[in-house]
Amino acid sequence: MKEQKQQKLDIGLLDVKRQDCLEGLKSIEDNSIDLVFTSPPYADQRKGKYDSIPVDEYVDWFVPIAVEIQRALKPSGSFFLNLSPHCEQGEKSTYVMELVIAIRDQAKLRYMDELVWYKSANPRKWDHRLKNAWEPIYQFAKERPYINHANIKIPTESAFVNKRGYSSYTSVTGNVGGYHEITDQGIGFTIPDNVLYFPSALLVKDKFEHPAKFPLELAEFFVRGFCPEGGTVLDPFMGSGMVGLAALQYGRKCFGFDTEQRFVDMAYERVNSYRKPPESPKKGTVDIFATESA
Ligand SMILES: C[S@@+](CC[C@H](N)C(=O)[O-])C[C@H]1O[C@@H](n2cnc3c(N)ncnc32)[C@H](O)[C@@H]1O
Repeated sequence: MKEQKQQKLDIGLLDVKRQDCLEGLKSIEDNSIDLVFTSPPYADQRKGKYDSIPVDEYVDWFVPIAVEIQRALKPSGSFFLNLSPHCEQGEKSTYVMELVIAIRDQAKLRYMDELVWYKSANPRKWDHRLKNAWEPIYQFAKERPYINHANIKIPTESAFVNKRGYSSYTSVTGNVGGYHEITDQGIGFTIPDNVLYFPSALLVKDKFEHPAKFPLELAEFFVRGFCPEGGTVLDPFMGSGMVGLAALQYGRKCFGFDTEQRFVDMAYERVNSYRKPPESPKKGTVDIFATESA
């Protein structure tokens, strides 16, 4: 069955509460969430914009939240955590690494993967180091997580059919490997690798001012790839509501929390003011999602 962006969003599928997420999570049923995709406040960052947790308290602060996420996730669910360490007096902080281990050991979630979100570098000058151009996104799961390869496939540069009717492919980097479907148009597709390129949303000016908003396309990628149609997404640190918009655009339910009323309002306004952009595929290009199935 083809999956389409919703023409009109069903606002009833969104439930964002002004609440500390640790409290809010306790009201969510066991084994009910398909996907958690979130970015909590980074330690010692954004002071004055919203709550900021000191580095040496971060793991103890987050582990009880991860325990609730573990309880609320379905056995097929995934928890993606976007959290990037900062530098303090020239040295990179290691609290994020400590947290990953604590989530595995104390919240009893399987550590599945570390994805690279390549978002392009900030043009400012850094002494003694290169510019940072990426952030990690950690994937945890309860058991064997759901993934919809068809929804997140990407075209390969070339494809060759082998005896089993599948294609081996050459990627844009020249690596050959894997077996992937070939479409009736003769175009090869493969599943994406775990380096994702989505330019920072801060480069996109819109009326929703939030200092750390996700690009919509990044949130859509996780919703479509890791939450089945009609499933439920949770963003415990909802901010400006990008995850909510991505979820509703594709007919998923979404729960969210934020401690700031202005961000709860912003999330609802973002979803309420959504208008589906007109479809106008450019001549000579291929809509890679045109043949997708859930
Ligand atoms: C990094 S931002 C999330 C931005 C979001 N991904 C977006 O696309 O706009 C973190 C958000 O968590 C909120 N927050 C901070 N502490 C919280 C807590 N204990 N529970 C719920 N939300 C919290 C902040 O107000 C902030 O909006």
